[in-house]
Amino acid sequence: MSKVTVFEHPLIKHKLTILRKIETGSKDFRELVNEISTMMAFEVTRDLPVREIEIETPIEKTTGYEIAGKKQALVPILRAGLGMVDGILEVLPAAKVGHIGLYRDPETLKPVEYYCKLPVDISEREIYVLDPMLATGGSSSAAITFLKEKGCKSIKLVNIIAAPEGIELVQRNHPDVDIFVAGLDKKLNEHGYIMPGLGDAGDRLFGTK
Ligand code: PRP
Ligand code: URA
Repeated sequence: MSKVTVFEHPLIKHKLTILRKIETGSKDFRELVNEISTMMAFEVTRDLPVREIEIETPIEKTTGYEIAGKKQALVPILRAGLGMVDGILEVLPAAKVGHIGLYRDPETLKPVEYYCKLPVDISEREIYVLDPMLATGGSSSAAITFLKEKGCKSIKLVNIIAAPEGIELVQRNHPDVDIFVAGLDKKLNEHGYIMPGLGDAGDRLFGTK
């Protein structure tokens, strides 16, 4: 079974609370998603392998470290996942970025794919799938299935808010994929929205409502 990490850091809790507030406008919402994503990136990348390298400081020679192993790719799920990209690139500037376009059919709540563009060497990379919301889990789970069909073996899922229903679905379909969430909420309402959640992440990021 995959591991679920829920962030307990006071700065993340504070920023997540402002993000949830109905009165937080798009500009602040974007900045908060960006900042929370950067903070999450530290924990998400904790197990990246390093190798020792010899360097010289102005004082003497010493041993330092550089990131080794697989290169990374960020795969935001359009649209709302886009809001997390820049914050993670702050700490992983060499990562490539692939895009998967999915929207949730409002009637069936099932994900519908409409776009995909991935780095050519995606199957060789350590992948971070990004989506602020893990609700039913349909979108994240479908994106991960799609990446596995392209040969990807090493995938982590990064969400800002998750519902227990979404975590359960991803764990059932993808027991090899660790999940990182800034906040774990109560449940879904009858329209498939996370309670208490933050509403529609895409609309709040891009001001479309
Ligand atoms: C939202 C959100 C996730 C999805 C989560 O996207 O950004 O992708 O819903 O729901 P699920 O876990 O039940 O699949 P939406 O379909 O609203 O598209 P958008 O990002 O373009 O607004
Ligand atoms: N998508 C969102 O943007 N918010 C939810 O609460 C559920 C799905």
